[in-house]
Amino acid sequence: MKKLVLVAGLISMPAFAADAAFDLKGDAAKGEAHYKTLCISCHGEKGDGNGPAGAAMNPKPGNFTDPANAERITGEWVYKMVKNGGAANGKSPMMVAWSGALNDQQVRDVSAYVLKFKPAAAPVKAEPAKAAPVKAAPKKK
Ligand code: HEC
Repeated sequence: MKKLVLVAGLISMPAFAADAAFDLKGDAAKGEAHYKTLCISCHGEKGDGNGPAGAAMNPKPGNFTDPANAERITGEWVYKMVKNGGAANGKSPMMVAWSGALNDQQVRDVSAYVLKFKPAAAPVKAEPAKAAPVKAAPKKK
């Protein structure tokens, strides 16, 4: 049932609706370099959370490419995670706050780059249609 509700949510909600109120104002092209120096070891080149340093972590670094995470990974969420870290957002403290290493604009730029890993549109998983149970006709004696 929970799954059904989630699927319904994905259908009715435009992919990036949650971003509407928050203006990231990030430049992904500039953020790329920061990602490659600071984030790639854990989050991986592809943004799938499979960087060498992230392999042994539990929980694993977030997978930005997974459609299942697409609704959560908004500009605002990524910005908050990068700026304040996992612990401040109820997530793993292994994801540190980067506000010491990056200034506000750099946080916005690297966040914009993270968003580029997201699948273009979250594909809606079709639930296999349940065939109506075929009732065996009562045998006539
Ligand atoms: C030392 C390893 C490490 C590094 C380096 C690191 N992260 Fe993370 N990050 C994590 C872990 C672990 C999590 C998962 C937290 C959780 O799910 O509890 C995470 C979570 C995240 C999330 C949230 C993902 C989600 O699914 O909601 C974002 C966004 C993120 N990191 C961005 C970055 C960016 C951008 C950088 C570079 C500036 C970076 N991280 C560097 C380990 C790391």
